[in-house]
Amino acid sequence: MATIKLNSGYDMPQVGFGLWKVDNNVCADTVYKAIKAGYRLFDGACDYGNEVEAGQGVARAIKEGIVKREELFIVSKLWNSFHDGDRVEPIAKKQLADWGLEYFDLYLIHFPVALAYVDPSVRYPPGWHYDGKSTIKRSNASIQETWTAMESLVEKGLTKSIGISNFQGQLIYDLLRYAKIRPATLQIEHHPYLVQPELIKLAKHEGIAVTAYSSFGPLSFLEFNMAHASAITPLLEETTITSLAQKYGKKPSQILLRWATQRGLAVIPKTLREENMKSNLDVTGWDLKQEDIDRISALDRNLRFNQPTNYFSTDDLWIFA
Ligand SMILES: NC(=O)c1ccc[n+]([C@@H]2O[C@H](COP(=O)([O-])OP(=O)(O)OC[C@H]3O[C@@H](n4cnc5c(N)ncnc54)[C@H](OP(=O)(O)O)[C@@H]3O)[C@@H](O)[C@H]2O)c1
Repeated sequence: MATIKLNSGYDMPQVGFGLWKVDNNVCADTVYKAIKAGYRLFDGACDYGNEVEAGQGVARAIKEGIVKREELFIVSKLWNSFHDGDRVEPIAKKQLADWGLEYFDLYLIHFPVALAYVDPSVRYPPGWHYDGKSTIKRSNASIQETWTAMESLVEKGLTKSIGISNFQGQLIYDLLRYAKIRPATLQIEHHPYLVQPELIKLAKHEGIAVTAYSSFGPLSFLEFNMAHASAITPLLEETTITSLAQKYGKKPSQILLRWATQRGLAVIPKTLREENMKSNLDVTGWDLKQEDIDRISALDRNLRFNQPTNYFSTDDLWIFA
């Protein structure tokens, strides 16, 4: 299993398994099967609403002796409604209890967006809307306040490493001015339609490992009726990708994942299909030629699907704290 050395000293598997949109009724079984297939990193989040079931899958695999806790690398994320400094530790502890774990390997700020606190007894996960419908209520918590609370999670042994997700360059530079613990990873949307070379260069220069999500581009976002996701050629059918798949005797999905891993990024594809679990894992240890990597990178359209505003309606009411 290829790994990436984090600035926190820990080794992170380069290929992991994403848990977004893994339904509750299949999640435990999916995680268990993924561990059997060889996955060791699981990318979860409060927002995915399936941490209890993911933990059950992990517990079953540990109980059956397939894997030990210390061989796994469990990632979770702080949701936007818990950015206020005093909310971070309680929610991280709840998430650990949901997983049935004593520590996370990596805990990320999911988005640099602070929303008003929603008590888990009211609604969990809270999602974007304060009322669960149409009101978006902001919190005044700064990223510095949230990051300081994230640092104390490391000091208390609740997570080994901390990181960020969906941050752009300027905000990273700001965070690095006050961070006592530097972010170990930056998790970003990344596929041939959104290559973000400058951001990746910045992260590498600052010693922050980059994890790519939504490696198959628009595929994940079709169900949200995003016009720009359905208007563009699906990456798995794009001719540069399919011709390279033929050339290398691999699946188009593997070409997309290898393009990322060969450039030093970690990947976390999600699949419910066992045949894809296997092939998505086989994306290190063989090489694309540099000219082919460059051909894939040239597909860049700066096309982003996962931005907060894509989940809001124009009728939503914004309230500022
Ligand atoms: N930090 C963030 O804000 C953020 C945002 C989005 C995602 N993420 C993380 O990144 C993970 C991956 O991203 P993602 O879930 O957007 O999507 P993804 O892994 O890019 O794509 C998932 C889609 O691809 C299909 N698929 C998977 N493997 C395939 C293969 N070998 N051949 C053909 N189709 C395949 C899946 O269908 P089947 O299940 O039917 O195979 C599913 O429809 C998430 O699960 C989550 O952990 C993080």
